[in-house]
Amino acid sequence: MKRFGLIGYPVSHSYSQNFFQKKFKELGLKDHSYDLFEMEYLNEFPALWLKHTDLKGLNVTVPHKENVIKYLDKQDVSAIKVGAANVILKKNGILTGYNTDYMAFRESLRSWMGNFKGEALILGSGGASKAVQAGLTDLSIPYNQVSRTMKGGDYTYDQIKANPDIITRFKLIVNTTPLGMYPKNETIPDLPYHKIQKGTFFYDLIYNPEETAFMLQGEKHGAKTKNGLEMLELQAEQSWQIWNS
Ligand SMILES: NC(=O)c1ccc[n+]([C@@H]2O[C@H](COP(=O)([O-])OP(=O)(O)OC[C@H]3O[C@@H](n4cnc5c(N)ncnc54)[C@H](OP(=O)(O)O)[C@@H]3O)[C@@H](O)[C@H]2O)c1
Repeated sequence: MKRFGLIGYPVSHSYSQNFFQKKFKELGLKDHSYDLFEMEYLNEFPALWLKHTDLKGLNVTVPHKENVIKYLDKQDVSAIKVGAANVILKKNGILTGYNTDYMAFRESLRSWMGNFKGEALILGSGGASKAVQAGLTDLSIPYNQVSRTMKGGDYTYDQIKANPDIITRFKLIVNTTPLGMYPKNETIPDLPYHKIQKGTFFYDLIYNPEETAFMLQGEKHGAKTKNGLEMLELQAEQSWQIWNS
């Protein structure tokens, strides 16, 4: 048996499990499985590998992407750049961490925007924001961050609302907050949307719902919009490539 899986808390609604079960079926891999391992505390991590000696790789989700690093033997450059790992490969007894969120964001942005010239504004300062920052840095796209507090960013939402013209400088706005995510579909980052310039790019990392309140506001003001589905699919596909490397 070749076992793979996902650790996180909670992990009950997992896109990854559906993705990999479908893939194993398509490839006729009857001896492969993808399990959900609900793990509230990371100190249970070493015991998981002892219990399942057939475990070849894991995906890691909220809230463990950053703290899991201290349990690993090695980090790929992608995990080092982001400071977090969402994929683990076990090879010859060595656990190596990778960050495919970052690589997937970068590739999806490149294919969507081509040779973009301009500045980006990132909403939020959590784990997804760090992956986005690393992707933008690779693509030489300068960025600023908005956070609820000055500690997390260059601007607060209140500062931008007080001086709404700030937003006209940014040709790309990336939502890395959970605002708008199912079931709270109606929530939205607090921005002066009326100032958005036609042709601005609105990238929302959320994929459920397919069209978020943030994207709808962007469209209303002439922005081009994209959700997080391609990023999600790319990061899963890259996990598979890593596990087969
Ligand atoms: N498409 C994909 O492949 C993909 C991959 C990873 C994540 N995601 C999505 O990205 C989103 C964020 O993930 P994450 O792991 O980074 O989550 P997170 O750490 O829980 O939150 C991200 C940041 O959002 C801001 N935020 C949180 N609650 C807020 C609120 N009520 N109002 C305003 N800002 C708020 C916070 O930044 P401040 O404290 O600076 O305000 C927080 O650090 C989720 O929706 C997740 O599903 C998608």
